[in-house]
Amino acid sequence: MKLRLDALIELGFYGLSWPRLKQEEEKISVFLERFHEKEQGFLQLPKVKSALLSSLKLAEKLRGRFEDIVVLGIGGSALGVTCLRDALKGPFWNFKKEGPRLFVLDNLDTVGEVEELLNLDKTLFVVITKSGTTPETMAQYHYFKEKVSKENFIFITDPKEGELRKIGASYDIPMLDIPQNVGGRFSVLTAVGLFPAALLGIDLESLMKGAEDMAHSFQAKDMELNLPFQFATVQYLLDWERGIPMTVMMPYSSRLHTLADWYRQLLAESIGKEGRGLTPITALGVTDQHSQLQLYNEGPTDKLFCFIEVLKQSSPMIPTIENPKLNYLSGHRFDELMATELKGTRQAISEYKKPNLTLEIPEVNAYELGQLFLFFECSIAFLGEYYRINAFDQPGVELSKKLTRQLLS
Ligand code: PA5
Repeated sequence: MKLRLDALIELGFYGLSWPRLKQEEEKISVFLERFHEKEQGFLQLPKVKSALLSSLKLAEKLRGRFEDIVVLGIGGSALGVTCLRDALKGPFWNFKKEGPRLFVLDNLDTVGEVEELLNLDKTLFVVITKSGTTPETMAQYHYFKEKVSKENFIFITDPKEGELRKIGASYDIPMLDIPQNVGGRFSVLTAVGLFPAALLGIDLESLMKGAEDMAHSFQAKDMELNLPFQFATVQYLLDWERGIPMTVMMPYSSRLHTLADWYRQLLAESIGKEGRGLTPITALGVTDQHSQLQLYNEGPTDKLFCFIEVLKQSSPMIPTIENPKLNYLSGHRFDELMATELKGTRQAISEYKKPNLTLEIPEVNAYELGQLFLFFECSIAFLGEYYRINAFDQPGVELSKKLTRQLLS
């Protein structure tokens, strides 16, 4: 994976120079020290193999028994799983014949519709909630509990606390742990992501290897080698010094569309607090060139554009088109057209003097996805230090939960 800052640096006035970025380098050691004091567990996940092994073991035991998997979870207990499925099996996986299909029920109004698609006896319900009390998830669990036997459930939750843990123990339902020092939105490389991914036959070893390599980069004191620090520094300086508080995450790959959703939660919930924060926006290349690009080019200069470029994609070829106005498309593959549109859009955005950078990956595979997960998580750890806020809690979501409880009671 490469982080390309060339377009940003070439911008001069609106952008940032490399010497300016390098002035921040001395902060790496201090930030790492402060981060380690917080004793967050996500960095160790690629090395500690227990989640990987227990997920693989349980998945192996269940292989072939179920046609469909339904994840009941929300937020950090849903977005990473969805991203793993879409990136590594494709966004149309559920329409393919291979199976098992994987549905992620992370909203309340789709329960009935999804139920109609399922043969309930042949469906495995994976209930994921770190707290074990999240109302959306627990309501859905109780709904399906009335309809299928306990053999159709697996729980993934805190090793000790919470209602789900208690229910699991009393019904003797197999359970996998979310380590206590790993927050929900940082949990994709625990059983939360690994177990459903194992059921889909995703290459978990490569996923974890990619993550482990990025975890090393995070510890590098040399800024050139520390990609998460570079990204966080650009975001912070653009916000703090130039009033550019938004980050548009724009992958040019349908497979990575839900990675942008996953990142949106990570950035918003981690950094948006104490009156500060960066606003994440998701966009999909090429689709959103036809919906948002007008604003991006000619609107206010208040966004950093983060393109994700995939060098190797495969797709069919466009046939010969005789129409003289369209024959420039003839004989090119669809992915070639996509790559060219990215180049054109990036150049246009630069000509409009909007700050932009590119994350470049050779292809969408498990290794690269592991790198991306850790890259973003580690950049958040640095951002938390820049803004001097705790990136690992979410006190601001409590009030609406409390009020919902009061209203329903
Ligand atoms: O990052 C977080 O902690 C949250 O977004 C949670 O993932 C989300 O609220 C779901 O919580 P739980 O896993 O406890 O059901």
